[in-house]
Order: sequence, then C-alpha cells, then structure tokens
Amino acid sequence: MHSLVYRSAANESFTIPEIYGMLSNAKDYNAEHGITGCLLYHNSQFLQLLEGEEGEVLKLFQKITMDKRHHDILLIESEYSNTRLFGEWSMAFHDYGQNGLSANLKLNQIDAFLKQSDAFNRKSAPVLKFFSAVKDILFSN
Ligand SMILES: Cc1cc2nc3c(=O)[nH]c(=O)nc-3n(C[C@H](O)[C@H](O)[C@H](O)COP(=O)(O)O)c2cc1C
Repeated sequence: MHSLVYRSAANESFTIPEIYGMLSNAKDYNAEHGITGCLLYHNSQFLQLLEGEEGEVLKLFQKITMDKRHHDILLIESEYSNTRLFGEWSMAFHDYGQNGLSANLKLNQIDAFLKQSDAFNRKSAPVLKFFSAVKDILFSN
C-alpha cells in the first residue's frame, strides 16, 4: 500500500462547481483503480491524500501534476503505508471555504471530517505528516 500527499494552488478559473465536476469523474476512476483518499480545499489551496497500490498511485499523481487547472504542486509525502485511512472513500471532499472561520471552528471541522476516516486512530508517521499538512493549509493565511 502506498500513500501520497501533496498540496497545490487552484487556478482562479477552477471554480467550486468545476471542482465537483472533476470529482465525479475522479471517483469513478479511483474506484476502478483501487484508489482511495481525500481532497481538502481552502482559500484556493488543495491538499490531497492518495492511497492505493504504488503503481496506480504514482500513475495518477503523474496525471494530476500535468493538470493545468492547478499549479505550485508540492509533494509532501510518498511512502509505504500499512493501512488505508480513507478505505471507504473513492475521494472524500471537504471545502473549508475562504478565510473567515475562526480557528476553533476550522479545527472542529477537521475533527468532524477526519473522524470519518481511520486517521484518528493511528499515529503513524504518514498520518502525523498528513495532519500537520492539513493545519498548514488551514492556518497559513
Ligand atoms: C486537485 C486535483 C485533484 C485531482 N484528483 C483526481 C483523482 O483523485 N482521481 C482522478 O482520476 N483524477 C483526479 N484529478 C484529475 C486529473 O488531473 C486528470 O484530469 C484526470 O485523471 C483525467 O486525466 P486524463 O484525461 O489524462 O485521463 C484531479 C485534478 C486536480 C486538479
């Protein structure tokens, strides 16, 4: 099992309705290729976790890096993982909206979202890196 996390910045023209459109195709592709994970969105920043068989994850990430709808792609982790955090989700999505939510509310939202995953019960290195990256995108501006 391979786990890959990256962040990126959405192009201005990539609006929420278009993101939902992209996700509907993505979920079909992911389900067919045994890929699970989540995509978080805040202030035009994406954070995505992809998990699955190594070859499949790397092939998809290659396609995603070629996608012109986002830029400044930064790979945060790509490593072996012994378990899926979002085994039930072909691609869970959460939109944190723009700035304006209080820090507390953002943290509550992270909790509520991640409680649906196995991430809460694990303290492995990939999980901790993932949590720290979630906080980075929520509190970086
Ligand atoms: C932020 C972001 C996340 C994406 N996540 C996925 C995904 O999880 N699965 C997927 O199939 N495509 C995803 N895509 C879309 C891919 O970049 C690409 O458009 C899609 O795989 C179709 O590629 P193809 O036309 O080369 O076959 C994502 C795109 C962006 C911008």
